[in-house]
Amino acid sequence: MKLAARVSHITPSPTLAMTATAKAMAAQGIDVVDFSSGEPDFDTPEPVKAAAEAAIRAGFTKYTPSSGIDELRQAISDKLHRDMGVRYEKSQILVSCGAKHSLYNLAQACLEAGDEVIIPAPYWVSYVDQVLLNDATPIPLPTSEENGFTINVDELQRAITTRTKAIVINSPCNPTGATYDRTTLQSIAEVAIRHGLFIISDEIYEKIVYDGVPHISIASLGPEVAARTVVINGVSKAYAMTGWRIGYAAGPKDVLMAMANIQSQSTSNPCSIAQKAAVAALQLGEPFTSQMVAEFNRRRQVMVERLNHIPGVTCRMPTGAFYAFPNISGLLGRRGPDGPITSPQALADYLLKHAHVAVVPGEPFGSHHHIRLSYATSMEAIHRGLDRLAEAVAQLQT
Ligand SMILES: Cc1ncc(COP(=O)(O)O)c(C=O)c1O
Repeated sequence: MKLAARVSHITPSPTLAMTATAKAMAAQGIDVVDFSSGEPDFDTPEPVKAAAEAAIRAGFTKYTPSSGIDELRQAISDKLHRDMGVRYEKSQILVSCGAKHSLYNLAQACLEAGDEVIIPAPYWVSYVDQVLLNDATPIPLPTSEENGFTINVDELQRAITTRTKAIVINSPCNPTGATYDRTTLQSIAEVAIRHGLFIISDEIYEKIVYDGVPHISIASLGPEVAARTVVINGVSKAYAMTGWRIGYAAGPKDVLMAMANIQSQSTSNPCSIAQKAAVAALQLGEPFTSQMVAEFNRRRQVMVERLNHIPGVTCRMPTGAFYAFPNISGLLGRRGPDGPITSPQALADYLLKHAHVAVVPGEPFGSHHHIRLSYATSMEAIHRGLDRLAEAVAQLQT
C-alpha cells in the first residue's frame, strides 16, 4: 500500500529504540548497564496504586468524558494555581494519554504546511517529528554550553520569520538538564508577544530540579504571556508513572477546545483507572517526589563528577531532569576495534558492543558533540557503568 508522504519524514523514537536494544541484550543474558532509559527507576507511590485499585473495585472502568474526569481537571487546575499562581478553568485543561499525546494534540490543532516552529537544540526527540507529522517545519535554534544550553534571545529574534508560528520551551530540558531563569523567560516572552508567537511550554520535569533552582513557568509571567502559552505537563516523571499514560495541557480556551475535539475523534478519554490514580498523585504525591529528587541529586553528583574524570569528556552540572549530557568531542577521531569514533552514534555503538553500556547518542537530540546518560538508575549501576565506560574510553587509540 502507498503510505502517506508524512510518514517518510519521521523515524521511531531513538531513545525508546536504544532502551529496547538494551533490554533485548539483557534478555539474552548479557549484563548491560542501561543509561538510556527516560523514566524514573522508582515504583509508583503506594497511595497512587491504592487509588487505582479502588477505582477498579468500584467499577470505574468505563468511558469517561473525552477530555478527562472533572475531579482530575479540578486537581490539575488546583495544582497549576498552587505552583504557578495561574487559575485555569476546567474548560482550559485537557487530560491526554501522556504529555507526548498532549503535545501531539497541540501540534494537530495549531500547525499546518508553511508554519515554522522554533525548537531550541539540543531538544527532546519528539518535538521535531511531531512538527513534521503535521506538515510544518521545525527550525532548530542551537544553544551553547557556555549559555547553560538556554536560548540566546538575540539569536531567537534572528530565527523568527513571517512564517514562525510557535516556539518550544522545555525547562527543565531533556536532554541537557538546563533550566531557564526568570530573566531569560521574561525576554523570550517579550519576543513572543512582539512577534505574535505561540509558546509551547513543556514542563514535564518541573518537579525534578536541584541546588535550590526554582522551576518557573513562562505562563506565570503575566496574563499576556499566559494567553499565548500552552503548558504541557503530566504525572509520568514526578510520580514515577510513565506506564499509566496521563499527561495534560492547559492554556487558552480556543486552542484547548480544538485539542479536545481532536482527542474526542482520535483516542477518546485516557484510561479511567489511571485518571483516578493521577488525582491521588497530584494530591498526595509530593513527599514521594521530594525523596526521589533527593536520591536523583546524589546520583547526579556522582555521575557528573565521574564523567569529568574521564580524559576527553567534559560534563556540565545539570540543574534539572535526570540526565547527564557530557561533551565527548575530545574522543572523536580516536580508534576503536571497529574503526574510528567519528560521531556520538559511533561512540554509543562502541560502548554498547564492547562495554555493554547503553547510552543515547546526541544526534537525534540535534547534537554532534554529546551523549545522554540517564541517572534514573541505581547508584551501584552508575558506578559499574562508569567503570566500564572509563575503561572502554581508555582503550581507544589516539
Ligand atoms: C521533554 C519531554 N516531554 C514529554 C515527554 C513525554 O512524557 P509522557 O510520558 O507524559 O508522555 C518526555 C518523556 O520522555 C520528555 O522527556
